[in-house]
Amino acid sequence: MTEFTIPGLSDKDGRKIADLLQKQLSTYNDLHLTLKHVHWNVVGPNFIGVHEMIDPQVELVRGFADDVAERIAALGASPQGTPGAILKDRVWDDYSVGRDTVQAHLAALDLVYDGVIGDIRKAIATLDELDLVSQDLLIGQAGALEKFQWFVRAHLESAGGELANKGKTTEKGAAKAAKSAR
Ligand SMILES: [Fe+2]
Repeated sequence: MTEFTIPGLSDKDGRKIADLLQKQLSTYNDLHLTLKHVHWNVVGPNFIGVHEMIDPQVELVRGFADDVAERIAALGASPQGTPGAILKDRVWDDYSVGRDTVQAHLAALDLVYDGVIGDIRKAIATLDELDLVSQDLLIGQAGALEKFQWFVRAHLESAGGELANKGKTTEKGAAKAAKSAR
């Protein structure tokens, strides 16, 4: 696969890092498409605020995909950016909420971010041994993803500090709980 990698890395480690970053690339490509789906499908009270809150996050995540893809290329590997690559790499199900309220979508999106942030933190831990430059890239991205999850959660939080989707493990379950919490 690789004819070269970044100086100071073994070919084996270069490949390992590129494989790990490929999963991250597919995560971001899935996430920015899913965010657009939410942007198009939210309805009801607070529509415009949430509709408009999502687009800057789409742009940010598209930028993250670009940075990760270019890092893969710098490592001497080929970034896979096709829809087929997303399907091949992902271990989660397609986002399951269609046309629905702001609360329903944000409750489901909170679970999406639980998965994305949990995984990026695992990748950051793995990169500790492999490549601090790639790790640094993901650390910066994780901080921005965690900030956006706070935006999402702020809509789901009661005055007492409880999240409307507390304890829910599926997107549909989270969406239902958040709708009945209103
Ligand atoms: Fe739009």
